Amino acid sequence: MLTRDACTALDAQDPLADLRAQFDLPTGRIYLDGNSLGALPRSTAPRLQQVVTQDWGQGLIESWNTANWMTWPQGVGDKIARLIGAAPGEVVAADSTSVNLYKVLSAATRIQRLAQPAHHVLLSQRDNFPTDLYIAQSVCAAAGWRLELAEAAAIPARLAAGDVAVLMLTHVNYRTGALHDMAALTAQAHAAGALAVWDLAHSAGSVPVRLHAADADFAVGCGYKFLNGGPGAPAFVWVHPRHADAAQPLSGWIGHAQPFNFTTHYEAAAGIHHYLCGSPPILGLAALDCGVDSVLAAEPLGGMAALHAKAGQLGDLFMRLVDERCAGLGLDAASPRDAAQRGSQVSLAHAQAWPVMQALIAHGVIGDFRAGVDGDPDLLRFGFTPLYLRFVDVWDAVETLADILGSRSWDVPTFHARKAVT
Ligand SMILES: Cc1ncc(COP(=O)(O)O)c(C=O)c1O
Repeated sequence: MLTRDACTALDAQDPLADLRAQFDLPTGRIYLDGNSLGALPRSTAPRLQQVVTQDWGQGLIESWNTANWMTWPQGVGDKIARLIGAAPGEVVAADSTSVNLYKVLSAATRIQRLAQPAHHVLLSQRDNFPTDLYIAQSVCAAAGWRLELAEAAAIPARLAAGDVAVLMLTHVNYRTGALHDMAALTAQAHAAGALAVWDLAHSAGSVPVRLHAADADFAVGCGYKFLNGGPGAPAFVWVHPRHADAAQPLSGWIGHAQPFNFTTHYEAAAGIHHYLCGSPPILGLAALDCGVDSVLAAEPLGGMAALHAKAGQLGDLFMRLVDERCAGLGLDAASPRDAAQRGSQVSLAHAQAWPVMQALIAHGVIGDFRAGVDGDPDLLRFGFTPLYLRFVDVWDAVETLADILGSRSWDVPTFHARKAVT
């Protein structure tokens, strides 16, 4: 039987433990929602203060040149590239994941219209994140394609049917944390004449990603989750160099080859640069830069492999303690038990997941709730961000969960009341 002291001892031996000092975490709360909104790095507020008061306040418009603002999407993109197995010059930080997905899916339709004119199916997973499906619906409507949704296990067979133009998957499932084999699925897509588009929203800064090694075609991802870029942080987009000149449809002036020539005709900048559209969001990029640096700080300690290994240990500990201390209290594991098969997240199904999560939050354990659709169960989601979580936090969180479930203290009207945003 594990003890709290044993968890404290694990923290004392943890080579990544010092990375927690990078974050300004609230006292008295255990933050298990870094998979939704990453924590605040201590470097972010002073950096924003400097960008606002110095670069903007004093430098004013000259800072576009003196502070090199125009190059920040590429500069932050180059740092993100180190986390996702891409090369410098292949990633830009811009817009939202949804908008970047629209760009890459549209570019993929243009490529496939010529390369595979008989392929009209965009294939995705039934429980992919809704924005991915909504954007895919819009792209399919414009291209005259059909969006088909399959369960994860059925994807290889559906690809083999031979009419899929694009396979669009989220690498780590937002509900269950289940991790796809990117290299295997990309190879299966290519063998079937399809392109592979990956959403790395729950992967960047969470699991090792090797876009080039997997020979992926396109990728997008989020800045505000495991990259700690802050609420609404710019997202990122990667395009394999073999497709980098395939036109994306949002032909804004910042993606122009010569934006300051102010010509009337659009001429796309080379490569990933034309995936930029409007003016770079400088404040958001400054915060994202700090967030990405907080993840890159793990590079000398083993980088993403070490972070994912610790996230796996935290998740394993959580599942083991839940099995030991919450048996018979209505919880079912909704995430893979094998840490190698999951991202930095564990989800538990519970028939009363909403009020249970509200009670947890009231007791200082911050996770989130995801409603089940299409017969899927309602979930309690817990993110295990290895940069700032300790093994003792996992112990304390499970103690709180066991208390709440055992005493049924979740079953009061305040915890049943629904809020608009969680
Ligand atoms: C898999 C996935 N893709 C995209 C998004 C949303 O992206 P954005 O709000 O940047 O458009 C989320 C948000 O949780 C997500 O989980």
